[in-house]
Amino acid sequence: MGKPHALALPYPAQGHVIPLMEFSNCLAERGFKITFVLTEFIHKRIMTALSEDSDIKNQIHCVSIPDGMGPGEDRNQIGKLLECILSAMPGYLEKLIEKINESCEDKITCIIADENMGWAVKVAKKMGIPQAAFWPANACLRALLIRIPQLIESGVIDANGKTRKQEMIQLSSTLPVMDTTQLMWHCFDDPKLQQIIFHFVFTNNQAVKDADWLLCNSSYEIEPSAYSLNPNLLPIGPLLAGTRQRQLVGNFWQEDSTCLSWLNQQPACSVIYVSFGSFTVLEESQFHELALGLELTGHRFLWVVRPDLTAGQAATYPDGFQDRVAARRRIVSWAPQQKVLAHPSIACFITHCGWNSTMEGVSTGVPFLCWPYFADQFLNQAFISDVWKVGLRLNSDHNGIISREEIKQKVEEVLGNDNIRARALALKEMVKKSVSEGGSSMKNLNDLVEAMKGTR
Ligand code: UDX
Repeated sequence: MGKPHALALPYPAQGHVIPLMEFSNCLAERGFKITFVLTEFIHKRIMTALSEDSDIKNQIHCVSIPDGMGPGEDRNQIGKLLECILSAMPGYLEKLIEKINESCEDKITCIIADENMGWAVKVAKKMGIPQAAFWPANACLRALLIRIPQLIESGVIDANGKTRKQEMIQLSSTLPVMDTTQLMWHCFDDPKLQQIIFHFVFTNNQAVKDADWLLCNSSYEIEPSAYSLNPNLLPIGPLLAGTRQRQLVGNFWQEDSTCLSWLNQQPACSVIYVSFGSFTVLEESQFHELALGLELTGHRFLWVVRPDLTAGQAATYPDGFQDRVAARRRIVSWAPQQKVLAHPSIACFITHCGWNSTMEGVSTGVPFLCWPYFADQFLNQAFISDVWKVGLRLNSDHNGIISREEIKQKVEEVLGNDNIRARALALKEMVKKSVSEGGSSMKNLNDLVEAMKGTR
């Protein structure tokens, strides 16, 4: 019998590639051959970011298929991208699988698709290949999204996803309240775009309903009451590289690991780490205020300023800022974030609350300051500040700006709060247990691997 051969398909965004790549690394370690399918555009980005890092031991075979857009087209035209994915990619994926199965003795034995690429479950079913759908965010949000038909029926949203009445929904008393006006398609103003995103979410959501396995990058311990609301959903996370060294992460930007040697020179629990994930964009005025806020705290800081972090052109700092803080700052365009958060010199994490960043901060026991922008980030903020109580919210002023004074005050508050730190460390231990041998997520992962191997 040949090797089990999994084909993994992430949605083409950084926060989706990283956890599925990590899941693929876990499968590769357990004897699977992995074909990791990226869009051509993303494949090129990852390979470019990797080009100077020749030390990677790659056990994953990355291949690419077109996303349906023209080579020079702007992938930030999100509506166009989603329509192209749905119309063009199923055909390309089917052809790829046929080609692999004709040419390779280890035929594809299962397909693991990000739920945001749920259409791939249909392709797999048509081809008679077992399928798993992987949800990269929290199970609580998923529980709400699988209730879209009921939300329509009860008149909360219409058939195009438009909110007819704002409702605060709490699916269980131990889960955060969700605001129906903050569902991801409402994060854009254009009604046509909202409709396209809603259609994309709903189509994928329906397509994964009958997948052989439903997986998520979370754990029973993190959100215990979310699983009775998500029939058959198996948490296998948080999936983090942990001690794994030199394996493909799937970064879109080249990692600047010199900040780790800088961290080595800083005292324990002294550095504020600031990062907004892969696609948050700050207005220039907010960017300046954040810089001045970090200066005002008087603390050391490590700040990820992606080349596209500010709207318009590259970031410009307030006059004299770089010199005034030179002795206590490090600014990089992309950090090895999991290693940074695990570093003993990190004191707290100013974050946009993406689910991966949230899981990485939870797994390292770092207190949070929450600065959400988009989609599930508001819900993740509620988990951090209201449910687990391991961080604080940063609040905007009447102009919609998070002021330098607010930043200084909340940094002081979070650093001075022993209860927050104690809860963060307790949560870290709980999560560590769930991904260790015998823990709930590890057991789900091992059972899943056996079941997947059994389908050969
Ligand atoms: C998005 C959403 O925000 C998130 O909530 C959703 O679940 C997945 O897609 P993104 O906004 O990029 O992702 O944030 P996040 O989920 O936090 O993922 C960012 C990833 O990039 C993390 O794994 C983080 O470790 C990594 N990262 C970020 C780096 O490796 N280096 C950096 O400098 C910044």
